[in-house]
Amino acid sequence: MGYTPADDGREVFAEILSEPLDGGDFTVRHWRDDDIAPALALVDDELRRRLGFPAGLDETTARDLLLQGGAVTIADAGTDLPLGGMRVFLHDGGAVEFGYWLGPDGRGRGLASRGLQLLSDRVVAALDPARLELRTGVGNEPSERVAARAGYTRVGPEPPLVYPGGRVVETTLWVREP
Ligand SMILES: CC(C)(COP(=O)(O)OP(=O)(O)OC[C@H]1O[C@@H](n2cnc3c(N)ncnc32)[C@H](O)[C@@H]1OP(=O)(O)O)[C@@H](O)C(=O)NCCC(=O)NCCS
Repeated sequence: MGYTPADDGREVFAEILSEPLDGGDFTVRHWRDDDIAPALALVDDELRRRLGFPAGLDETTARDLLLQGGAVTIADAGTDLPLGGMRVFLHDGGAVEFGYWLGPDGRGRGLASRGLQLLSDRVVAALDPARLELRTGVGNEPSERVAARAGYTRVGPEPPLVYPGGRVVETTLWVREP
């Protein structure tokens, strides 16, 4: 659950995040329609390279990706503008998986690990999952640092992800006990 607009867990995630989570200098909240244009402005070459976004990411695609139950933004606490985002996926069997990304201005101040911790705490309290999971792109050192700092243990290589358009991304699985 949490993968596609047809299976996005909207009811579950609406309840878990009925109020924004307070991270001090940031909040974690659901995306809104007025976030789409500022979110698109965050997409740089690093995000295209790491996440396999198509070069011409447009508003329709961004809406499909962001206005989903399991998608949240990490927003600046002062301006409420998006700095990046996270995703939650609920796997069959009780595992919960997280993903994260930041625009250029949000990087380098520990926001991803702090956002991940805040969201994980909320998900664990609400859903009592069996296991927490992450998948980092092979060679993505900043993402690996986030995973390690958030208490995840490296398991090993996963079957490659194939993105629309045929791009293949090799990933590493990380797990954490709740
Ligand atoms: C991955 C990402 C979310 C990290 O978020 P962040 O909040 O900037 O991360 P942090 O500030 O906590 O830095 C993470 C660590 O990576 C290190 N780091 C930063 N850039 C680095 C680089 N180019 N090479 C190696 N390490 C790097 C930092 O020093 C820090 O190390 P520390 O934990 O030992 O202090 C961010 O870089 C990003 O959005 N990247 C593009 C999208 C992406 O790759 N998402 C993950 C997909 S698996």
